[in-house]
Amino acid sequence: MSFFDSLFAKKPESVLGIDIGSSSLKVVQLRKQGGKAILETYGELALGPYGGAEVGQATNLSSEQITETLKDLLREAKVTAKGCGVSIPFARSLLSLVTLPYRKDKAEQKTIIELEARKYIPVPMSEVQLDWFIIPETEPSEKEKDTVDVLLVAVHNDELTLLQNVVSGAGLAASFYEIEIFSTIRAVVDEPLRPVMVLDIGAASTKIYVVERGVVALSHSVAVGSQDITRAIAVSSGVSLTRAEAVKKEAGIEGEEAQGHPELVFSRIFSEARRVLTQYETSHNKSVTSIMLTGGGGVTKSLGAYAKKTFSIDVRLADPFAKTEAPAFMRPVLEEIGPEFAVAVGLALRKLEEI
Ligand SMILES: Nc1ncnc2c1ncn2[C@@H]1O[C@H](COP(=O)(O)OP(=O)(O)OP(=O)(O)O)[C@@H](O)[C@H]1O
Ligand SMILES: [Mg+2]
Repeated sequence: MSFFDSLFAKKPESVLGIDIGSSSLKVVQLRKQGGKAILETYGELALGPYGGAEVGQATNLSSEQITETLKDLLREAKVTAKGCGVSIPFARSLLSLVTLPYRKDKAEQKTIIELEARKYIPVPMSEVQLDWFIIPETEPSEKEKDTVDVLLVAVHNDELTLLQNVVSGAGLAASFYEIEIFSTIRAVVDEPLRPVMVLDIGAASTKIYVVERGVVALSHSVAVGSQDITRAIAVSSGVSLTRAEAVKKEAGIEGEEAQGHPELVFSRIFSEARRVLTQYETSHNKSVTSIMLTGGGGVTKSLGAYAKKTFSIDVRLADPFAKTEAPAFMRPVLEEIGPEFAVAVGLALRKLEEI
């Protein structure tokens, strides 16, 4: 190698996706090689023990506590990358799909969107960061159009400040912050045309949204999650939350061992999902063709079969690591834990696009 080669040779750069969930932190480190995303490392650390709660339960920690957890996780997972993308909780963001007047001129269109956004965002514009996407048309019409559909996205400044403090406190550098559902879509939804419903079953809440041609057409959050099953088991069997958490993972939803009636929690989630599905189908006049289960709660044993019975449409379990290259012997593990890492994988994939 000549001096210039070594000077300009692009050394393989690793990137990091960081998902700050309500119950745990997840990181995924990728590297680009030959156009592929190589999985270098990944890891998860429960936030509960850092804030006086149990593993698997949701928390509400300070930026200092999250920073401490993140530093421990980076060490444990042997993360070497510094450049990262970070998730914004869906609960801390506001999404609104609106129809606005169309303008051919891009600058004029931007002005209209930003002015109109004020009507839809229920907090002063100085308190939020606004972003927006124009929804591509399904059938481009010949005649001059007079409206456009725009997805407005707002995130409170306080949330971004918290995330920025965590990132700098952990000695990392973030080039973007992304609402978690967009990261998940990148990692697990490949269907280019037909509408897909995603159920991200987290610890404290479940995010339900319909994705059509890569765009969020409808989104909703329910305050029911997998921690509710753990709590029900603890109460009904008189065991600790730690024990109940283990029982939940072991037993799953159906069968003799299932305790604490996990199906009651899922039926609450599914009835909300059904409502969202019906709302989408009637207002868009299209049917949702499949459901993608993701989040830690999506890993629940026998949940796929149970969901298939409930909805009578195709149900799949998210496999975000399928988008990454990893040794074959790791595949079974990666498939099993995949749903929990969908957000982190999606973030790392976007970060990789920067290279
Ligand atoms: N194998 C499993 N079976 C059943 N539940 C599981 C399993 N693995 C994890 N969970 C549950 O999933 C939940 C955590 O999911 P996840 O990591 O997606 O949540 P989070 O990202 O922290 O939360 P949120 O997305 O709501 O902010 C916990 O309640 C945990 O008990
Ligand atoms: Mg999550």
